[in-house]
Amino acid sequence: MTTTRGRVQDKVAIITGAASGLGLATSQRLAEEGARVVMADINAELGAAAAAGIPGAQFVVMDVTREQNWIDLVDSTVASHGRLDILCNFAGIVRLASIEETSEEMWRQINAVGTDGTFFGCKHALRVMKAAGSGSIINMCSTASIQGGPNIFAYAASKSAIRGMTKSVACLSAQQGYGVRCNSVHPGNMATPMLREVYEIVREHDPASAEAMDKLWVGEPLDVANMALFLASDESRAINGAEMVIDNTTTITEGSVPKH
Ligand SMILES: NC(=O)c1ccc[n+]([C@@H]2O[C@H](COP(=O)([O-])OP(=O)(O)OC[C@H]3O[C@@H](n4cnc5c(N)ncnc54)[C@H](O)[C@@H]3O)[C@@H](O)[C@H]2O)c1
Repeated sequence: MTTTRGRVQDKVAIITGAASGLGLATSQRLAEEGARVVMADINAELGAAAAAGIPGAQFVVMDVTREQNWIDLVDSTVASHGRLDILCNFAGIVRLASIEETSEEMWRQINAVGTDGTFFGCKHALRVMKAAGSGSIINMCSTASIQGGPNIFAYAASKSAIRGMTKSVACLSAQQGYGVRCNSVHPGNMATPMLREVYEIVREHDPASAEAMDKLWVGEPLDVANMALFLASDESRAINGAEMVIDNTTTITEGSVPKH
C-alpha cells in the first residue's frame, strides 16, 4: 500500500486565532496536508469545538497579549511534539475608528493583540526554531498595512508594525544563518466572522457605504489558508521577508474591484 505524503507532513504548527475565520481555515488546511496542529485562541468554547473537528489537532486556550503565555505555549509544544516548524500569528481584532476617534484604550487593545502578540510569538518561535536550524513564521497583516484607511487607524498602524517586524526577523535570520523564514500575508476582505461584524457596523452607521461594499470582491478563508500552506511548506524555501498579497488587485486598482 502506498501512502501519500502531505505538503507539510509531520511538521508541527502553532496557529493563533485558530477558533475562527482565517486561523481555523489554516488549521484545517495544514492538518489536511499532514501537519500536527496546535490551535491557540482566547475563545475556549469555540476553539475546543473547532479543534474537535480536525484530526490530530490540539486546542490551547491562550491570550496572545502576554509574553509568559507565549513562553508556556512554545515550550509545551516542543515538550509534547518534540519540535516547532510553523507559527501562524493570526490572532487579531479590528475596530472602525479614525485617528480622531481612537482612544488610548482602543489603541492599546488593538496593538496588544496584533503588535505585542506577534512580537512575542516571533521572539519565542525564533528561539526554538533557531536551535533546530529551520522553521517558517507567517504573520497576519492586511491590505491595511499597504494602504491604510480613514477609519482603521490603529488597525492599519498595528498591521504595518507587523509588516516591519516580519522583514526584520527575516533579515536577521538570513544574515545569521538561523534557517528560519518569516513572511507576511496581506488579505483584502475575506468572508469571516470579523468581516461580517465590520459590514454590520457599516450597515448600521452608513447605509450608503454598506451598499457600495456589497458590490465589492470578497475572498474565501481557504484563499488565505492555501497561501499559508505554501509559506509553511518547503516549496517556499527561497521566500523570506516577503509580503504576500491576497486581494485580487484591490491594492493596485484606483477604485474598487467589483463582484461578478
Ligand atoms: N477577514 C478579513 O477580511 C481580514 C483581512 C485582512 C486581515 N485579517 C486578519 O486576519 C486575522 C484573522 O481574522 P479573521 O477574519 O479570521 O477574524 P475572526 O474574528 O474570525 O478570528 C480572529 C480570532 O482571533 C481570536 N483572538 C482575538 N483576540 C485574541 C487574543 N488576545 N489571544 C488569542 N486569540 C485572540 C478570536 O477569538 C478569534 O477566534 C486577524 O489578524 C485579522 O486582522 C482579516
